[in-house]
Amino acid sequence: SQRIIIDTDPGVDDAIAIWLALASPELNVLGVTVVAGNVALKNSVRNACKIVALSGNTQIPVFAGAPGPLVRDQVYGKYAHIGAFKDELVPETELQPQAEHAVDFLVRTLRQAAEDNDPITVCVIGPMTNIALALGMHPDVARGIKHIVTMSCAFTALGHRVPWAEFNVYADPHAAEKVFNSGVPLIIMPLDMTFQALISKDDIDALKQDGGLPGESVAALLNAFDRSDLNRFGREGGPVHDATVVAWLLQPGLFEGQPARVGVEISGKTAGYTYADFWNKLSTPPNATVMQKVDEYGFFSLMRRVFSRYGSR
Ligand code: BDR
Ligand code: CA
Repeated sequence: SQRIIIDTDPGVDDAIAIWLALASPELNVLGVTVVAGNVALKNSVRNACKIVALSGNTQIPVFAGAPGPLVRDQVYGKYAHIGAFKDELVPETELQPQAEHAVDFLVRTLRQAAEDNDPITVCVIGPMTNIALALGMHPDVARGIKHIVTMSCAFTALGHRVPWAEFNVYADPHAAEKVFNSGVPLIIMPLDMTFQALISKDDIDALKQDGGLPGESVAALLNAFDRSDLNRFGREGGPVHDATVVAWLLQPGLFEGQPARVGVEISGKTAGYTYADFWNKLSTPPNATVMQKVDEYGFFSLMRRVFSRYGSR
């Protein structure tokens, strides 16, 4: 099975991504590294522990990482993520994070992977601070990374947190720049694509019905989520951005993408703005495969199938 690390700031869609991964025997989750983002670090760590515990995989280690971005002032996610993980929706647990810092875990594990010639997939579904710190302090860890699969960036769909940027890049543009220029191949799930897969009421009901305890929590979290988004896309349903990262690992054929050089603006009014040079105007080799299309029906079928394993445990 494929060895992965999930770097995350849960986050309702982060929770879905983690639960998908933890129900997939194709994936060997070595650890969950947590960063500040949607919510303050203290809360994202708590949420991560609750998510892992509810999956029943209490042996998966959770590591607390960077408490804030590299340079810019801290910003948080949309209010709907904040306080979303109420104990009624996702029960409290005894599970605690490890004593080791997330960045130390990343460095230790990725160096070992480089040494063993067995590189690891790193899924980055929050601001890129932890992985940027690991790469910045010890550039050799890059050799231990097979690729970084990240939900980040906005190209034509532009931002929903601010008009010019997607949240994970906006929250730490300097970290994104570090990662984009690290030489590690990137698979990018931008808003342009994630907005194509909108979860319907029927799919939410199905997860609640067949998805065991995580399925019930997903339904509760999504039903409590900011429903104003529902009108924004001209039809019923809301996006589940981060879940596309794990879906790509499980079934890449659901997605279509194109190589491009991706870059980010780090200063000025539009810091966090990302571009993808599909026409190679910059004459710079691509650093990413940018996903542009997702098979919405296939994606939600996969999600139902994977969650149903929790129901039949
Ligand atoms: C990203 O920002 C966060 O709010 C979500 O969890 C996702 O990672 C979407 O822009
Ligand atoms: Ca996230």
